[in-house]
This record gives sequence, C-alpha cells and structure tokens, in this order.
Amino acid sequence: MVETKVWKVDPEAADLIDDPQIKEAAACLERGEIVAFPTETVYGLGGNAKVRDAAHKIYAAKGRPSDNPLIVHVATEEQIREICTEINPMARKLIDAFWPGPMTLVLPSRGAVSDTVTAGLSTVAIRMPSHPVARALILASGLPIAAPSANSSGHPSPTTAEHVLHDLNGKIAGIIDGGETGVGVESTVVDCTTTPMTILRPGGISREQLSEVIGPVTFDPGLTRPDQTPKAPGMKYKHYAPEATMYLVPKGKDRIRELVANQKNEHRRVGVLTTLENKDGFPDADVVLTCGRRSDPATVAHDLFAVLRRFDAEDVDVIYSETFSEAGIGKAVMNRLSKAAAGRVLE
Ligand code: TXA
Ligand code: MG
Repeated sequence: MVETKVWKVDPEAADLIDDPQIKEAAACLERGEIVAFPTETVYGLGGNAKVRDAAHKIYAAKGRPSDNPLIVHVATEEQIREICTEINPMARKLIDAFWPGPMTLVLPSRGAVSDTVTAGLSTVAIRMPSHPVARALILASGLPIAAPSANSSGHPSPTTAEHVLHDLNGKIAGIIDGGETGVGVESTVVDCTTTPMTILRPGGISREQLSEVIGPVTFDPGLTRPDQTPKAPGMKYKHYAPEATMYLVPKGKDRIRELVANQKNEHRRVGVLTTLENKDGFPDADVVLTCGRRSDPATVAHDLFAVLRRFDAEDVDVIYSETFSEAGIGKAVMNRLSKAAAGRVLE
C-alpha cells in the first residue's frame, strides 16, 4: 500500500509543462513509479515505457493479464520514430489527419520499449493524445509513457479522477486530476500492418472518419464473431461489466416497460439505462439513469462509463438498456455496451 497523491491541475492553464505538480508527476515516472493522468478519451495509468519494472507495476495495480499489451503515448514526431521502424504511407496519412487525438496505431516495433509493454509482440500500439495534461506530462518527463486505461481490469474505464481513486487508491503513486475527460470511450485501435487496415477496437475516431482519409478500412471479425479470436488481446476479455445482470433491448422503450413490470412482479430491484429524451418513460423502474441525448451520439459516449459505474452504487439486480445506431461513434458505444451486457440481448 502506498499513499496515492492527488495533483489537481487546470487543463486550460498556460505553460502546463512548467507546473510544479506536473513536474512532480513526471519525476515519479522518471523514478519508475506509476501515475494516472487524464487523456481526451479516458484516464490512463502511466509508466516509463522503456522500463520493464514500471510495466510490471501497471499490470499488478490493474490486475491485468500480462499477455495484454499496453499503448505507448508520445508527444513528438521524434518519439514516434524512436518506437516504430516504419510508418507506411497510409499510416502517415492517418497520423497527419488524426494526431494528436483519440486514435492508436499498431505499427512494427523497433524494440525501444520494454517487451513487457508489447507483451512480446513484434508490433507496438502507439498514440499521440491531444489532452493538454497528457501532452505536458509526456514532454516534462521526456519519456514515452505506456498507459492502459486506469481502471481495475474488467471495470468500466475511468472518465474522472474519482473513478481512478475508487479502483486504484493506495496502489499507485499519484493521479493528476484534470477533471472529466471529453470523448468518454477509448481510442480507436487501427492495425496498420494489414491491407486494408483493420480496426481492432472501435473508439473515438469512427470508421467513417478513417475511410475519408485512406479509403476502405475493415473491422476485425473477432470483434463480433464468437468463433474468432480478436486480434487485440484486450478485446477477448470480459470488460465494463456492472455488478447487476445487464440486458440490451433493441426494441426500446415499450419493450423495456414490459420487462420492468415483469421484474417488479418478482420483487427485484430494476435499473434502466436510457437517454434524456426518454427519462420519464419508466415510472415503475427503481433506478433510471440517463446517458446523454439520443439525438447526439457523442454525448452518449461521453456519459457511458460513468453511468455504468453509477449502477453499481445503486445496487440493482438487473439493468435493461436501450441500444443505439452503430453509425459513427455509435459503433464504439455499442461495442462497450454489448461487452457490459456480456452479449445478452432481449428481443
Ligand atoms: O484511449 C485509450 O486508448 C486509453 C487511453 C489511456 O489512451 N488507453 C487504453 O488502453 O484504452 P488499454 O490498455 O485499456 O487498451 C489497449 C488495447 C487493448 O485491447 C490491447 O490488447 C490493444 O490495445 N493492443 C495494444 N498493443 C497491441 C498490439 N501490439 N497489437 C494489437 N493490439 C494491441
Ligand atoms: Mg482498458
């Protein structure tokens, strides 16, 4: 057990790189400690990507299986070149269009980061985040930072410093609290070693956005087909699951009302995950939580993980969730929701 320091930082402040708290967090990384920090997607749990022991600390704090490689976060072109051997012309186009931002590229590794970070693979996942605090931390430490999402393995990813502390207090050296994250779901992971390129995890940048820049992009069949192993090791694990049994209900409001009524006859405590538009539509449910506005999918992504965590605090037995269109960022939302529900769908 270590004492977890909390450094409160205003992401909009000027000269963040000289902020004494950012410097203290950077010094922790240089000593091989691990610290959590905000990115534009979710909070990350960072360590020096070159040091095996830092990666071990990350896996231990999260309870993460060590065959699941970490994303390396960088802030400069020089760091990109230091970590991967080759940036093919299509990958270059994606970098120019979407970095810094919520996209991770899987590229051939130069072996400059620890093999514990890459879980022994010949490729490395690399991302240049746009969040000013993440950028300042990378630049202040001068290090490539290996960072998975800063949750306990299996829990929803953290979008606030409070979520991180709930999962990791006493297990990490510190956390930079830069407020709520913006996108709310993790980065899109794109495998640049295949033709066409493959989306290994849908996320903050949609397939439609990628295709506008590089043409056809496919989804890893392992994302949706139970008979195929996902190519991103992390996508095969149970994830995001609330404590209650959750079901997705594609038919929506009226069908959910019926299901709620049935459960109430059985005296169970029922939760409904809906959106602002429908929030008054479930008077019989014990807990109704809203997740953004259906008319604006980005707000659904932004709220999703926080809402899943709130259901745990509400102690419900069962949760019925509305579903969403898979266009744009909806693909990432439905991927996370379907994992949270362990694939359970009620017609
Ligand atoms: O938005 C994000 O990506 C956040 C923030 C903190 O940057 N990070 C994040 O990391 O979500 P994590 O570790 O929770 O997810 C990384 C995913 C995992 O599914 C992992 O298996 C996959 O990327 N991955 C990492 N390296 C890979 C590689 N070389 N080949 C294939 N998949 C890889
Ligand atoms: Mg994660």
